[in-house]
Amino acid sequence: MENEQDLLRDLSQKQDDELMLRPQYLNQYIGQTDVKEMLSVYIQAALKRGESLDHILLYGGPGLGKTTLAQIIANELGVNIKITSGPAIEKTGDLAALLTTLKQGDVLFIDEIHRLPRFVEEILYSAMEDYVLDIVLDKDNASRSIRIELPPFTLIGATTRFGDLSHPLRERFGAVLRLSYYSQEEIAMIVRRTSSVYGNEIEEEAVLELAKRSRGTPRIANRLFRRVRDFAEIMSDSVVTYKITELALSKLGIDNRGLDHADYMYLRGIIDRFNGGPVGVESLASTIGEEPGTIEEVYEPFLLQEGYIKRTPRGRVATELAYQVLGKKYYKGLLDT
Ligand code: ADE
Repeated sequence: MENEQDLLRDLSQKQDDELMLRPQYLNQYIGQTDVKEMLSVYIQAALKRGESLDHILLYGGPGLGKTTLAQIIANELGVNIKITSGPAIEKTGDLAALLTTLKQGDVLFIDEIHRLPRFVEEILYSAMEDYVLDIVLDKDNASRSIRIELPPFTLIGATTRFGDLSHPLRERFGAVLRLSYYSQEEIAMIVRRTSSVYGNEIEEEAVLELAKRSRGTPRIANRLFRRVRDFAEIMSDSVVTYKITELALSKLGIDNRGLDHADYMYLRGIIDRFNGGPVGVESLASTIGEEPGTIEEVYEPFLLQEGYIKRTPRGRVATELAYQVLGKKYYKGLLDT
């Protein structure tokens, strides 16, 4: 990059792309049919009553579209949205600064809400329930506090780890909606949409190949599409062909099952180091040099869903399919009997 201005222009171009890519209304959002149906009812009812929407918790794996849905909800309600995340709110003052700028009916979106510091979470309770903010001014004297009235607002929380949310927080959400992995057909629709937003022609076989390798996750599909498009632009007048898709994906180290380098490390970890398991997440994490949280949230959901691993009370075990993928002989079943 030549200079800072170019860098900034590039960044803002990227943000514009992201914005264009995101659907603006529920009827443009592909997949998650049940979630959309429920939301549509809640939104229409709130609009009809002229009240703020009840607080909503969205939960599901990374990249499934929680932030996009929150933006759609605000759009459908015709209100503003403020976006933050659990780790970004370090002090009660940070939360107060956000809440006090909300107008009636606005949405506050807190991503990774399970990572809110506990003392911040505690002042959120009364904000959610009674729309008041009680700020303690003097730590040693609870009576030295001020109460700030808030307009009725909607909190949308998002989390990848429902189990990490405290009970009092969970109970303050009027609805909990779970996002699931997308089918290959749904991912294919998203890829076609992305391709047309970017103005690239794409072969149907290329769409299907991308859909197959995107782990049921729109964020991955869009990321892979952008990389394939780079190849297409220098090799074939921007037409995303099947051949270019294959080439680009193999250069990116993604095989035709959607498994990448990290998945292979994980599976080799279980099979080579722990004889196929069972092994606990901590031991596996230190063997392959990854965070246990990342393993649980990013790698394992897909590997479990596709049947490469199983969870048992004693830890993870590799299945016959995992052995097949690594080209290794499976003898686990024989030993077990
Ligand atoms: N882009 C990312 N996720 C999407 C979805 N679910 N529908 C349409 N476009 C998307």
